[in-house]
Amino acid sequence: MSGTPQLLAISDLHIGHAENRAIVEGLQPDHPGDWLIVAGDVAETTTDIKWALELLKSRFDTVIWVPGNHELWTTAKDLVQLRGVRRYEHLVAMCRRLGVLTPEDEFPVWTGDGGPVRIAPLFALYDYSFRPEGANTKEEALAIAHEAGIVCTDEYFLHPDPYPSIDAWCHARIAETERRLAACDPDVPLVLVNHWPLVRQPTRVLRYPEFAQWCGTELSADWHTRFNTATAVYGHLHIPRHTEYDGVPFQEVSLGYPREWKPRGLPAKLLKPVLRARVAS
Ligand SMILES: [Fe+2]
Ligand SMILES: [Fe+2]
Repeated sequence: MSGTPQLLAISDLHIGHAENRAIVEGLQPDHPGDWLIVAGDVAETTTDIKWALELLKSRFDTVIWVPGNHELWTTAKDLVQLRGVRRYEHLVAMCRRLGVLTPEDEFPVWTGDGGPVRIAPLFALYDYSFRPEGANTKEEALAIAHEAGIVCTDEYFLHPDPYPSIDAWCHARIAETERRLAACDPDVPLVLVNHWPLVRQPTRVLRYPEFAQWCGTELSADWHTRFNTATAVYGHLHIPRHTEYDGVPFQEVSLGYPREWKPRGLPAKLLKPVLRARVAS
């Protein structure tokens, strides 16, 4: 056990893969007071999502979840066939029953090591604005992706109902999220948690640049400077790393698929202490 409780984070658990489920079964806090951020892509079915979040909540003092694209898929193998907003609301209600915090709850304040910081779990989605070279519209971006054979599975399973499109749903989320962030006390730094990166830069290292259009929105590009931000935590890209933009640390905390983590091996610490830099300084 380490000396003091930590604010920890992980994302992209993808427990539909047996090896990843075994990893989640082994996740333990270092300290009974540790908090855990789960930054999306736990699994595709509500049964699996509930299993993982319930287990983690039984072990960690506080668990904070944001949805990834995979939680929002409506697939034939899920008992719950709700789509879009109603599916998201169903997951939020499930989290409430489990005692897991979501973007729909009051933003909690961490007062332990590296604090005080306000943790803002966000659900900002994406709007196809991280367009590939040569595309000026969403339609052109999608056409280039189809031509290249790089099309995100979201196109088949992530439904925007009742919005007419994912970008329309994203824009509604952006407006609501900006309102909430602007209402936060500017003297308490924020930990911005979103499944998709809030800025485009991390997508520049994607193997297939056409995929970036499913990875975020230009509308959140200045949030880390406009709002007092200690650090931003994200996943989705399955490229775990630390970067810094405008002096603000960004941390990709994904586990990823077994085919991705096996070649490089699992890191010594699967759960990332997100305020490490603040504690060290
Ligand atoms: Fe993922
Ligand atoms: Fe994802």
